[in-house]
Amino acid sequence: MQTKIGQDIQEAVDLLEDGRLVAIPTETVYGLAANALNEDAVLEIYKVKNRPQFNPLILHVASINEIGKYVDALPKVAESLIIKFMPGPLTLVLPKDRNVPDLVTAGSKRVAIRVPKHPLTSVLLQQLDFPLAAPSANTSGYVSPTTAKHVQQNLQGKIPYILDGGDCGVGVESTIVGFNERNELVLYRLGGLSIDEIEYVAGRKLVTQLSHVQPQTPGQMKSHYATNTPLYFGEMHELMATHKAKNCVLITFDKLYGEMPMLNQLQLSPNGDLQEAAKNLFGILREADAMQADVILAEAMPAKGLGLAINDRLSRAQFVMKE
Ligand code: TXA
Ligand code: MG
Repeated sequence: MQTKIGQDIQEAVDLLEDGRLVAIPTETVYGLAANALNEDAVLEIYKVKNRPQFNPLILHVASINEIGKYVDALPKVAESLIIKFMPGPLTLVLPKDRNVPDLVTAGSKRVAIRVPKHPLTSVLLQQLDFPLAAPSANTSGYVSPTTAKHVQQNLQGKIPYILDGGDCGVGVESTIVGFNERNELVLYRLGGLSIDEIEYVAGRKLVTQLSHVQPQTPGQMKSHYATNTPLYFGEMHELMATHKAKNCVLITFDKLYGEMPMLNQLQLSPNGDLQEAAKNLFGILREADAMQADVILAEAMPAKGLGLAINDRLSRAQFVMKE
């Protein structure tokens, strides 16, 4: 199959109506989209991504007015978050309506839903009479794509069309929150919207229950966002001391380290801006990977705001010894 890249919304509409997959730009990362109400199309997402079917997909809708069609109940706090932050990099997990296929939610009675904020994708969604199921448009486990080119590197020949919306502005995936049995607000994934902002609007603290931290058997343990070159994450001087005999690429926040060749150092944000660092993160991870060093050493960001989401991604990209 030939994979076309372009900005033709009508071509994307036609393919999606036909049950085919299209990679779409969002403000966070590119998504691999299909008609969420067409089970064959959704199955194709799992297949192309090589994603296990127990890992559910996010439903993407055109506007906040569409959310009610796919969820069964809307707690007051969710309403405030929707009004304040959507469209934007927030995903809410809510009781699902019957019309959402179990395949999308991997059997869960709750659906993750969001309204992406990207001009091309907003127009696209408005022209469709169904929501889009879309995970990040990378093969399962690899670094998420923030440009059309990244998508092409991973999915060339596997999908018919990539809708090119330029570089993603936020650069890390949406923040995911939901509710537990006690009706507390739960954080499932750190992301492009900081928890401080969410807590401020919700008027309460988030309870943390990051989905990837749940106990798993070792055989299922799988690193995410992982580069092919082993990556180590932490304090840079310690990392350099541990790996000093090796050919290293450094991913730094804003500094350059005098003891290392400049060419081997990639700064996420020379100005020390966490938003810029988030925007550059996945592109720089791919760039570092392509340098074919022995190891990638990535330093921890300041643990505040988007720095928390960046640290989450880098720590999950870390090299894990296979059993
Ligand atoms: O920014 C984003 O969220 C991007 C763009 C494309 O929208 N999408 C994205 O999708 O990151 P994905 O599939 O790579 O990550 C979705 C995460 C997964 O960790 C999945 O387990 C969780 O959302 N998730 C999806 N549905 C869920 C549900 N019903 N309950 C709990 N977690 C859910
Ligand atoms: Mg993903």
